[in-house]
Amino acid sequence: MTSRILITGGCGFIGSNFVRFVLAERPDWEVVNLDKLTYAGRLENLKDVEHDPRYRFVRGDICDPEVVRAAMAGCQLAANFAAETHVDRSLLVAGHFIDTDIKGVLVLLEEARRVGLERFVQISTDEVYGSIGEGSFTEESVLNPRNPYAASKAGGDRLAFAFWATYKVPVVITRASNNYGPYQYPEKLIPLFVTNALRDEPLPLYGDGRNVRDWLHVLDHCRAVLHLLEYGVDGEVYNIAGGNERENISVTREVLRLLGKPESLIRPVADRVGHDRRYSLDAAKLRALGWGPQVPFERGLAETVRWYADNDAWWRPIKDHDGEFRRYYQEQYGGRLS
Ligand code: NAD
Ligand code: DAU
Repeated sequence: MTSRILITGGCGFIGSNFVRFVLAERPDWEVVNLDKLTYAGRLENLKDVEHDPRYRFVRGDICDPEVVRAAMAGCQLAANFAAETHVDRSLLVAGHFIDTDIKGVLVLLEEARRVGLERFVQISTDEVYGSIGEGSFTEESVLNPRNPYAASKAGGDRLAFAFWATYKVPVVITRASNNYGPYQYPEKLIPLFVTNALRDEPLPLYGDGRNVRDWLHVLDHCRAVLHLLEYGVDGEVYNIAGGNERENISVTREVLRLLGKPESLIRPVADRVGHDRRYSLDAAKLRALGWGPQVPFERGLAETVRWYADNDAWWRPIKDHDGEFRRYYQEQYGGRLS
């Protein structure tokens, strides 16, 4: 039987990779993509599938109950990727993080309950656990979000659980580590540094550069979310980890090496306030369900760097002509780099 899935935030980085992945992997599924097209949502991310008869795009806000009602009509499944996602922006202005990442999740959950959805996957994040010095967080670890983005995601994460605990809405919650791959908006570490290096511009490395992130290829993330749509257990949380913990300085050096650019492009700058030192996840629970990452970091990073080098028609208009990006870059880095 045909399944119809609502994918929210499908014009963003992970969402667009997921839309493409589902259309390729599940030929009998229909996809409805609900996206507000914020600065991070881009129709060109899905140019190659826009005419697929199984695909429908709806422009709208997950905070709007009428929009959500129309988009979710006829769906059995939903995966909520829509969010404000950039930590640095949440440190400048946080209000819209609360709107989308908490109130928007509530609107989706209420509609999921009303229509009797068969599965609702809430895409949360490892940031809800906060920072860890030694060892790794399990799904049982205490939540300790330490920046406004992480706190708003924790709100959405726990609201989703509350709808399972109270109303038995069949929710599954995922907490993934840092994603990388094609179509990532060039405000995040890897695409920002690759595209700056391609133009011989400085790479603004925060603090001592020794903060640790665990890198997960976006297609490994997509495989995990599809697996959980089909095999996840209602009401459960699943960590999704790449298993590739690296200090930022090491990722930065590798990017420069792959591009044949000098390390003199690295510019140590004032640290992010409240900068989480290390993220680390134990993903044994998801591995026991049959998922494991398939993309080795060295290969994934090399392919990703190549993708940005080959697709400057994708990122140059953002960096050069998008007034919003330029305003943000100036506000975030102007003082740091001067
Ligand atoms: P992104 O910023 O690239 O894309 C977000 C998308 O959501 C955009 O297309 C945007 O237009 C859309 N959107 C924002 N507000 C909306 C609203 N109110 N209504 C409808 N659409 C709206 O984000 P991403 O990096 O692809 O992240 C996707 C999800 O994965 C987020 O929930 C994020 O918290 C989570 N996550 C991301 C990472 C990562 O490393 N990028 C890791 C773990 C979890
Ligand atoms: O861990 C999952 C999270 O990963 C997701 O939930 C977020 O949506 C996603 O943005 C990402 O958050 P981070 O803050 O870890 O990602 P970001 O790319 O912004 O930064 C990665 C690391 O690089 C972090 O330690 C800060 C550092 N950094 C980042 C930027 C943008 C720099 O040193 N310089 C920079 O200019």
